[in-house]
Order: sequence, then structure tokens, then C-alpha cells
Amino acid sequence: MRRIAVLTSGGDAPGMNAAIRAVVRSGIDNGLEVFGVRNGYAGLIAGDWKALSRRDVGGIMQCGGTTLGSARCLEFKTDKGRQKAIRQLRQAGVNALVVIGGNGSQTGSHALHQLGFPVMGLASTIDNDLFGSDISIGVDTAMNVALESIDRLRNTASSHHRAFLVEVMGRECGYLALMAAIAGGAEAVVLPNSETDPDQLAAELINSYERGKSHAMVIVAEGSHYNAARLMQHFQKHHERLGFQLRVTILGHVQRGGNPSAFDRILATELGATAVQALMLNQPGHLVGRLGHEIALTPLEDVVSNTKQLDPKLLDLAQLMAK
Ligand code: F6P
Repeated sequence: MRRIAVLTSGGDAPGMNAAIRAVVRSGIDNGLEVFGVRNGYAGLIAGDWKALSRRDVGGIMQCGGTTLGSARCLEFKTDKGRQKAIRQLRQAGVNALVVIGGNGSQTGSHALHQLGFPVMGLASTIDNDLFGSDISIGVDTAMNVALESIDRLRNTASSHHRAFLVEVMGRECGYLALMAAIAGGAEAVVLPNSETDPDQLAAELINSYERGKSHAMVIVAEGSHYNAARLMQHFQKHHERLGFQLRVTILGHVQRGGNPSAFDRILATELGATAVQALMLNQPGHLVGRLGHEIALTPLEDVVSNTKQLDPKLLDLAQLMAK
């Protein structure tokens, strides 16, 4: 192996820069030339990359976003696009690729692997929905951003005797919402794939008000059938009896930004260095993630064919604490 390339793909996640830095510096340490691909799979198809030195990745670890740029690339979803990307890589003498990203990105790496090009995936998404990693790069920072917002909103909620519906990101996975609800001491949490009866939820809010609570925080996962907008609409009919005034805050992309936490920087550094080691040991076709307290390799085949489930005990815990 002589030359590898690294790209970031899909939604940016805090810690991606630390992962790029780790891949570049570990690669160079192993005698490799490392190319940084601009704008994810779109840059791969266009052959848009440049060799990165140790110094090129200095001072980026503490920055949010991704210095390589990212994209959601429709062309790469086609066989033609993927074949073109492989041709570009081979023409440039690139022997292997490291893909830093979440579910969609790792579907892309699996496709390249199946087409015979050596790839390693690095688990990175704020959604934490990747099978093969208990925790992905970016989750810790995003969760703390959500938590800080919830704490701030609670100040206003208490002062004005309001109920806040706080919608957090996470696609169809409710991990961020559930953990933010536990850490933020929420009165209720609404998750995808779990039954929500909006009338029951309204009754719980009324009950909280009657028990003398000064506020109610409801954390809503964006992928829930009853997202914040739908819930708000539904609650209109309980308006008179609710007690609390209702407000909605959608946190949105604010959760993806900001400096990565120490945890995300360390995780990203470990995963990036492990990806290079695995390539040196000729073990492509895996996702590098963290399972329990260990850095672990999971075949990309398993990553794309399994869905990560939320631990139901955590939902029980959130509900117990809200009583
Ligand atoms: O996958 C990360 C994520 O932030 C999701 O939580 C969210 O649904 C989606 O990306 C938003 O995508 P975009 O940045 O393309 O609007």
C-alpha cells in the first residue's frame, strides 16, 4: 500500500476534523501518502483531492464542521457514479479509501467494497444510528449542545409557567432525543418507533401543571410521527385546560456545529488511527467504531444490513425520572 485517500460525507459532525487529522498523521507515520478528498463522494467522482501533510492538518482538531467539505451526492448512488469514482482513484494510484460518515455514507463505502475497492468506514454521525458503533463521532458534542439549549429554555419555561416542545435532530433514530431527555430532566420524550398518544401526553402536561410544576419540557425526536409541529396542532384542542402556555423550539442544525468535545476528539483520533492500522493489516471492508469500551471493526456488510435499536431500558428510565 502506497497511497490512501480520506473523505467526509453526509451531515457534518463535530470531531470529523480530528478524524481527518488522525488518518493523515497515522498514514504518514506508516509511510503512506494521504490524499484529502473535497466534498465527499462528489469530490471522489470529480477527482478533486490533494495530498495532505502533517502540517496541513495542524490546528483543525478543535474546529467544528469538516475542513474537507461534505456533500450528499446523488450521482454516487448510481452504479455509473461509483464506477467513475473507482476509475478516478485507480488512475491517481490510490490504493484504499477511508470514509468518515454515517449511514448513507457507509452504504456508499459498502458499495465500493463490493465493487472491489478497499475501503474503511469511520463511524461519524450526530444521529448515533450506525450499527457497529455504540457511539459515533459527533454524538457527544451534539448531545451537549441540545442539553445546553434545554437548560436555557427551562429558565424561560419556569419563569413564565410554560411547556416547551423541543425538537431535536436524529432522523428515524431517537437516541439524541432520549439521552437529552434523561440528561435534561424532561417531563416527557416523544420518539420514533414508539407509540405516542398525543391526548395522553396532553393529560400528562395537565397533571404536571396541577401538581404544581412550574414548567414542562417535552423532548421530541424529529423523526417521530408526532413531531413538534403536529403535536402543537393537536394540543390546540386542549388549549383551555393545559395550564401551561405552549412554545415550540426546533434546535435543527445548531446541534451539528461548534467545537467538538474532548470525548469526540479522542474518539475520532482513536478511530482514525485504527482505520489506518487495519488497512496496513489488509483488513478493508469494515466500519471502525466503538463497542463497549473497545475500538472494534464490524464488516460493512453487517453495518448496512442491520438497524441499530434503542435500549428500551433507557426509555423506562426517562419515564421513571419524569414522574
Ligand atoms: O444525519 C445528520 C442530520 O443532521 C439529521 O439529524 C438530520 O435529519 C439531517 O442530517 C439534516 O440533513 P441536512 O443537513 O441535509 O438538512
